[in-house]
Amino acid sequence: MDAKMVEAINDQINFELYSGYIYYSMGTYLSDLGLSGMTQWMIAQTQEEMFHAHKMLMFLCERGERVELKAIDGPATSWESPLAAFENALEHEKIVTGRINDLVDMALELKDHATANFLQWYVAEQVEEEASVGGAADNLRLIGESGNALFMLDKEMGARVFTMPAAGEE
Ligand SMILES: [Fe+2]
Ligand SMILES: [Fe+2]
Repeated sequence: MDAKMVEAINDQINFELYSGYIYYSMGTYLSDLGLSGMTQWMIAQTQEEMFHAHKMLMFLCERGERVELKAIDGPATSWESPLAAFENALEHEKIVTGRINDLVDMALELKDHATANFLQWYVAEQVEEEASVGGAADNLRLIGESGNALFMLDKEMGARVFTMPAAGEE
């Protein structure tokens, strides 16, 4: 693989872990507010991000390239409201989508079709990521100040669990 491509994927491994760190932090913020369902939702989101990093790490290993794990930046620790946290999460996912698109562009420029093909999984995944985070933000916006609705939404969001995809089914 081209050294530039390897470096860019290593950077993205770091960014996926950083994403997980942000959602972990959002989870603890929501826990502090007594929103245990949203906490669970954010923990599942964190596990997904760790899986995204892991999948890239394994790809570099399979191709015989060097993985370089770097320090992870500290995340924000509080937000103005649950809605503000989910809006921040959506903004963050849009940044991730832009970064994935840039990686695909680089792979195509380098005629590295194996990497371009590998990255397609992330292209599809980002559509889901933006939809699920954005959907939660939409719901929070809709319920406004209603405590009852917040209670129900929190309960519903608590049903989310992360299931590690089986090999070959990723
Ligand atoms: Fe991710
Ligand atoms: Fe994500």
